[in-house]
Amino acid sequence: MLHLTKLLNITNPIIQGGMGNISNAPLTAAVSEAGGLGTIGCGTMTPEEVEKIIIETKERTTKPFAVNIPISVTKFVRDLVDLVIKHNVPVVSLSAGNPAPLIPILHEHGIKVIAVVASVKHAKKAEEAQADVLVAEGFEAAGINSSLELTTFTLIPQIVAAVKIPVVAAGGIGNGQGLSAALMLGASGVQLGTRFIATKEAPFHDIYKEKLLTANDIDTVIIGRPVGKVRRMLKTPYAHKLIQQEQKGMTEEEYLDLTSEKQHYIGAILGDLENGFINSGQIAGLISSIPTVQELIESMMSEAKQNIVNVVSEFEVFSL
Ligand SMILES: Cc1cc2nc3c(=O)[nH]c(=O)nc-3n(C[C@H](O)[C@H](O)[C@H](O)COP(=O)(O)O)c2cc1C
Repeated sequence: MLHLTKLLNITNPIIQGGMGNISNAPLTAAVSEAGGLGTIGCGTMTPEEVEKIIIETKERTTKPFAVNIPISVTKFVRDLVDLVIKHNVPVVSLSAGNPAPLIPILHEHGIKVIAVVASVKHAKKAEEAQADVLVAEGFEAAGINSSLELTTFTLIPQIVAAVKIPVVAAGGIGNGQGLSAALMLGASGVQLGTRFIATKEAPFHDIYKEKLLTANDIDTVIIGRPVGKVRRMLKTPYAHKLIQQEQKGMTEEEYLDLTSEKQHYIGAILGDLENGFINSGQIAGLISSIPTVQELIESMMSEAKQNIVNVVSEFEVFSL
């Protein structure tokens, strides 16, 4: 199996997960410049909007970066595929839908494909469809989640045992401890969303970042279970309105309307927590600083290395 970093041509096994409509060029390029893999999140943006971000990202970095296409969220799947081919984007991540029909088209143009999965069954299917890398995302994660509700700690070793391609752990990772734990479970790297929001380069409102700094372990909530869809967000006045609406009875149409990218933009970019929501994973409680992307990635790498050394020396003590 080719090592993740060699496969993606990156230095550190850390991916910044795509964040629909909001993970823009400065964040994506900063992560790639720091040796990780930055990802532009297409969300519901038009191909023209995404194209501008791809061009700006290329102006900011010559290092590899990815574009995330959330299949069932965007109505522009085919146009976005054409766009990444046009711009020779080196890596595409496909989430929220069946990646199989798109993989051969991307491969034909030398584009590496990451498939985001949340169960062993979907992992095997993505491997059969020739995905290069799997991101296995646990239920701890921010944003749209799988209603299967498997957690990262259980998902990673089971998927690693079931496939031969590299598996990247996502959901609940926020520091070097999380990185080293994921590697111990057999992952080849990690994908982070929530932790990257609280960085200097992240294009989010300061209120969003401050909310993450003060959040604790129980400050996120799942919305949408009654309609069979799930999204994890921070507890805010808008999230409370959604909970009340859910208790009164919410149709799928209402859910999709109330949790659309528009409300996400209002919360995350405009910082209006009465009229918009902010995605967050359960790891928010661990966040206590707003470093630069480079500081975050460097500290994660050194902390993970130290952790692994410590674990090895503990085992040496056991075996005396
Ligand atoms: C604000 C935000 C928006 C997100 N949007 C998307 C998206 O459009 N597509 C996607 O595949 N994942 C999306 N995610 C999930 C991340 O890519 C990543 O897999 C996840 O956040 C990892 O879990 P963590 O939040 O515990 O680090 C989003 C996450 C956040 C925080």
